[in-house]
Amino acid sequence: MKPCQTLFLSIAWVASASGASFIPSGSSNSRTSSCSTRSFLYLPDEAAAGKNNVSNGKANDETFLVNNGKMGRVSMVGSGPGDPDLLTIAAAKVIEDPDALIIADRLVSPEIIALCKGEVRTARKLPGCADKAQQEIYDWCREGLMDGKHVVRLKIGDPFVFGRGGEEVLEFRKMGVEPKVIPGVSAAFAAPLLGGIPVTHRGISNQVVMCTGYGRNGTSPDLIQYHKEQTVVFLMAVGRLRELCDNLCNLANYPRDTPVAVVEKAGCPEQRTVVGDLNTIADYCIRYDIKPPSTIVVGEVVDVLLNEGVGSMEERVQGLVDMAVPSSSDVVAASD
Ligand SMILES: C[S@@+](CC[C@H](N)C(=O)[O-])C[C@H]1O[C@@H](n2cnc3c(N)ncnc32)[C@H](O)[C@@H]1O
Repeated sequence: MKPCQTLFLSIAWVASASGASFIPSGSSNSRTSSCSTRSFLYLPDEAAAGKNNVSNGKANDETFLVNNGKMGRVSMVGSGPGDPDLLTIAAAKVIEDPDALIIADRLVSPEIIALCKGEVRTARKLPGCADKAQQEIYDWCREGLMDGKHVVRLKIGDPFVFGRGGEEVLEFRKMGVEPKVIPGVSAAFAAPLLGGIPVTHRGISNQVVMCTGYGRNGTSPDLIQYHKEQTVVFLMAVGRLRELCDNLCNLANYPRDTPVAVVEKAGCPEQRTVVGDLNTIADYCIRYDIKPPSTIVVGEVVDVLLNEGVGSMEERVQGLVDMAVPSSSDVVAASD
């Protein structure tokens, strides 16, 4: 038996014995059986505790040593879109730790900040100074760790969805700690839902693409070509909505009348939803002064629940419509 076959068999045995293990795609049968050296086995608890830094079959003892010393620990926590009711129980427990040093993103809602019991510092991440603010976050975290504190990195939505979560894990590893990462409800799915839009719907949409409006250094990411039964959810894109709509039509073959919704501050008391199409939505957002954080949904799914029985646009603007879905949303525009 070749060495790589031995490795694969032993991984398979451990996985079935634990019953709770996770083998990432990097260790799929095809890769391991072709003698790939990228074979990993992570058991979730151990990975989260930084005990399983197995790389190419070798444990990384360095991280162990630091973690077992006096240094503090890090929890990276997703706080969801803003409504405290949408915090996970795990997240709620962590932010209630009175001894924690909580380093929060600027967009974490005031309602969630109010639940934090420890010291809270908020990152001043504004357009144009994001990298400087990110460095400040790392400096605060390092300071807390050196003081032996429980550092809580509180992020909006889910930490690993467009929030530099992976980058931060790598940075924490450089500091010698493996953060425990707690998932959050991502705006990518929660904002459409809270705005009354199912991102998939049988016969209407059978796939969802999640995309950012701003790539690294402000670039516009490449767009996927139009597919009628596809929903595209854009995060961080409301600031370049007109350009995005034009690009979808001119570069990705979207029909100009493709429905679009923008859900602003989903899950917050001020939530509003603006509905239009690729021709009209940019003007509506200017008219209603839509601001970040907002999530944009493009595709036929926008019309599934919002196009019937929700009154005229003016009624919606005035919040006069008693909408069954969603009850808390104020839909401000559909078409005019
Ligand atoms: C830096 S990304 C972080 C995404 C986050 N990690 C998540 O999973 O939701 C920030 C973007 O998320 C979206 N977003 C976050 N919170 C939102 C909310 N309450 N309502 C609407 N969109 C939101 C907006 O598109 C915003 O520009």
